[in-house]
Amino acid sequence: MAARKDSKQLIMMKDNFQYDIFLSHSAKDKRVVLALVNRLEQDGLRVWVYEREIKNGPIPTQIEAGLGASQLLLVAVSKNGEGSRWMKLERDVFISPDPMNEQKRIVVIRLDKTKPSGILSVFGYFDWIKKSKKEYSELSELLKELTIGKTYGLDHATIARVYDYFLGGICNTAADRAVANSLQKKYPNFKKVVISNRAFLRRAVRYLAEAGIKQFVDIGSGLPTQGNTHEIAQEICPNARVVYVDYDKLVVETSRRLLKQEPNQHVRVVLGDLKKPHSILHSDGMRIIDFRKPVALLLVAVVHFIIDDNIARKSVQTLRQQLAIGSYIAISHASRSKELGAVAKPMGKVYGQKVADIKQRQKKEVFELFDGITLVEPGLVFTPSWHPEIKDSYVKTSQLPFVNEPYRSLILAGVGVVVRKK
Ligand SMILES: C[S@@+](CC[C@H](N)C(=O)[O-])C[C@H]1O[C@@H](n2cnc3c(N)ncnc32)[C@H](O)[C@@H]1O
Repeated sequence: MAARKDSKQLIMMKDNFQYDIFLSHSAKDKRVVLALVNRLEQDGLRVWVYEREIKNGPIPTQIEAGLGASQLLLVAVSKNGEGSRWMKLERDVFISPDPMNEQKRIVVIRLDKTKPSGILSVFGYFDWIKKSKKEYSELSELLKELTIGKTYGLDHATIARVYDYFLGGICNTAADRAVANSLQKKYPNFKKVVISNRAFLRRAVRYLAEAGIKQFVDIGSGLPTQGNTHEIAQEICPNARVVYVDYDKLVVETSRRLLKQEPNQHVRVVLGDLKKPHSILHSDGMRIIDFRKPVALLLVAVVHFIIDDNIARKSVQTLRQQLAIGSYIAISHASRSKELGAVAKPMGKVYGQKVADIKQRQKKEVFELFDGITLVEPGLVFTPSWHPEIKDSYVKTSQLPFVNEPYRSLILAGVGVVVRKK
């Protein structure tokens, strides 16, 4: 069962879906509640257990933080439970500009025959008297349904959240975790492929910042994680400007929220699709970028999500045409090069079925994306072979996966410089 955390930890986790359910119950119902929690956890739901009844009045910080960390509040009401309490909670918890909190729902389960007044007007109500096995599974199904929201596609796995889970992040849901775990089970190297790709991004950003680049456009940026582009770039150049772009609304909202907590006047987040480069270029956020000066365009683990070869090439070209001489493009891309043998193809197929279609391209095809650009040393190589010596505060060179067998990283990477206008 989930260990209880102190309030400091709780606050740190606020706004992240570390838990599916925040369950509040009174100490006297402990036995039945523990049985329920075991069942829910067997079904893959993560439960935060709060062994206290929620009282009238202001919501204690601990509860508020726990709610921020979970998608659903489950209240176990025993004999003297009062509906008015939950009504009050509903008012206090639901009215929030936080997009994650729009998903927040309250479900009340009754552990006793007494029906608390007003309870049906909260979101859900489950009559919990007999505690038979069937009821356990019914409740579990209901809760699974309720912990998945539609607005942000929380009911199915997404590229960004599955990636986040593999990187050890906490912005993912039961659906993402289930898919990630099944991918990992089938292909035990999956996590390492992701770690290796992210490490390439960090090294490439450091390389570019050290080369004097002060402007970065990171398309397909993903959920904020350890070592974000602006953090690395600003370590070297504190005024470095960074525009993050992603087509996933949740990625954009989460990134903006994080920036609100740590305001950074040189960073913007744009909702945009790489397949529509003009709309990215004309977005408000992009105004902080001066395309007359060198820019680093990062397309890390994103072009392979554009299945049509012509659209993929055209999107990259359109962006490249904006870049001044001295600008760079960094690309990493899922490969189906010969040295990968029979592994890559089925892996891509399974990923396509479970998360999103992916086009693994031949080395020659990835190379063509750098059309009109001069690749810097060591050229287009598998991620661990791209300057493994560059400092990375998160993965030491000695711990970098696949350094001795780089092809197993499955992803090709390269950085090119614009030496002439096309
Ligand atoms: C695998 S993650 C990579 C994140 C980050 N670039 C990295 O390499 O660590 C791919 C990201 O690209 C985004 N993405 C996929 N297709 C996209 C598109 N056509 N336009 C913009 N973003 C896209 C996904 O939402 C996801 O956040």
